[in-house]
Amino acid sequence: MNDDLSNYRKSYEKGALLESNIPDNPMELFKKWFHEVDSFFTGETNAMTVSTLGLDGYPKSRVVLLKKYTYEGFIFFTNYGSEKGKAIEANPNVCLSFFWQAAERQVIVKGKAEKIAENLSDGYFESRPRGSQLGALVSNQSQPIANRETLEESLKLLEEEFINKEIPRPKNWGGYIVKPVEIEFWQGRPNRLHDRIRYTLQEDYNWIINRLSP
Ligand SMILES: Cc1cc2nc3c(=O)[nH]c(=O)nc-3n(C[C@H](O)[C@H](O)[C@H](O)COP(=O)(O)O)c2cc1C
Repeated sequence: MNDDLSNYRKSYEKGALLESNIPDNPMELFKKWFHEVDSFFTGETNAMTVSTLGLDGYPKSRVVLLKKYTYEGFIFFTNYGSEKGKAIEANPNVCLSFFWQAAERQVIVKGKAEKIAENLSDGYFESRPRGSQLGALVSNQSQPIANRETLEESLKLLEEEFINKEIPRPKNWGGYIVKPVEIEFWQGRPNRLHDRIRYTLQEDYNWIINRLSP
């Protein structure tokens, strides 16, 4: 097999990222970019790749959905016993990345993940549709299973068990907040002279800003 992709090439011309036009705090720039992209992109703007360093020594990346962000950090929900959950327990340093193709933008966040307060996970779990709640309850995320039928059978049993009852949040399911230490914004430009602006958190909690060579 030999699939030559060397002629895949695109000129990036949709925007610019200049120091004259950026805030001191990167979360404000994130918000601006997020909403600009979201206003014309029809996909999931909040889909992001989370990379962890696994117990086997390999990095692993997977997509999750960003559910909230504040000045403090980025929140997503998952199973704490999943492969990513175990990786984070051993090493909370993670990387988040967003590729917003329609805007020719990328954002890369290095940060530390920590579990959010239980009452916040409860609040979000309660807001989810019942189907998603049962899905979280039935799935021992990242564990091998015999086949699809056993999963569907377990779901059916849970549906019967919880008929007309409130579904409790499984204790191994909840949110992580990723508190950023570095955020890089990448805007594609013509001739590969892309704009890259990196914010790095200092000990005094101010951010320093550097332009990086593309
Ligand atoms: C668009 C999209 C959104 C996803 N959102 C989530 C999510 O919010 N939380 C989650 O645990 N998994 C989500 N997943 C599934 C994860 O990519 C992954 O399969 C799962 O979390 C197990 O990962 P792990 O075994 O590496 O821990 C999503 C996948 C896709 C493609």
